[in-house]
Amino acid sequence: MRILVLHGPNLNLLGEREPAVYGTATLEEIDARIGERAKHLGSEVRTFQSNHEGALIDRLHAERRWADGILFNPAALTHYAWGLRDAVAAVSVPCIEVHLSDVSKREEWRRVSVLADVRAALCAGRGLDSYLEALELLLEIAPGPERDADGTVELLVERLAHPDERAVLAQELAQIVRRSGRFRWVGLYDVGKEEVEVRGWAGPGPPAHPKFPRSAGLTGAAVASGRPVIVQDVRNDGRHLPTLEGTRAEAIFPVVAPSAVLGTVDVESANAQAFTVERVRWLERCVEALAPFWKSGGASR
Ligand code: DQA
Repeated sequence: MRILVLHGPNLNLLGEREPAVYGTATLEEIDARIGERAKHLGSEVRTFQSNHEGALIDRLHAERRWADGILFNPAALTHYAWGLRDAVAAVSVPCIEVHLSDVSKREEWRRVSVLADVRAALCAGRGLDSYLEALELLLEIAPGPERDADGTVELLVERLAHPDERAVLAQELAQIVRRSGRFRWVGLYDVGKEEVEVRGWAGPGPPAHPKFPRSAGLTGAAVASGRPVIVQDVRNDGRHLPTLEGTRAEAIFPVVAPSAVLGTVDVESANAQAFTVERVRWLERCVEALAPFWKSGGASR
């Protein structure tokens, strides 16, 4: 994957610029760390810093066919440079907004981001790690699985048309969603009157709780409301019942029949912010395609 890293005004002075806010690493050091990590992950990086909005726009245009994804810290331009917002929208390459500081906890004017409606995600407040987290997230989400939603849905429908033992089927369906979407872990659960029970899963290990009360965890919230529950960072959500160590973002999609919730699909990622709008849409299509697993007499099979 090819990644364009863009830095806005005053970031060339990192190291000496307000170190209490932005840390002591220089921009060269930050770029070197991003480059090393990207290389380790099999990606190629081009970096560019400018103190001028137009120069950043020109670089976005110039690299739009080369880049598969963008990490962008527009610095102060974040808060007022609408031309940058339009440039990101125009190039239509997934873009993660990055900030060293936690802009949500600083002055009021820093809470506005011109990229808010065009970025795939926001990583902020973790210094150099904001960039490294954004890099790992970008590798997971771009190029997004949404580019082949039809292909994945077709695979699921095909697999469902040849049902065999329900546990085997569940495992294979989970694997299709996991692989196609590049998620860490996917599980299909039956929702009973009292309990929720895993039918099949795909990922690095079995769920810590193969069976649990139907009111527990994020699943409990999805079952009670009949609506998807999406948590971008489970560390901030007390309802989270860990499935496996290391999960950062989790989404539960309920499968709803007119009078009851029959099942759930649990999707997990090692990256916070992994559920971008496109990926949620893609998952909703997958879950719709998966519904016959429960609806055609599934739970009683
Ligand atoms: C910044 C935050 C901006 O508000 C500020 O103008 C910057 C740096 C950050 O990385 O924390 O220059 O983007």
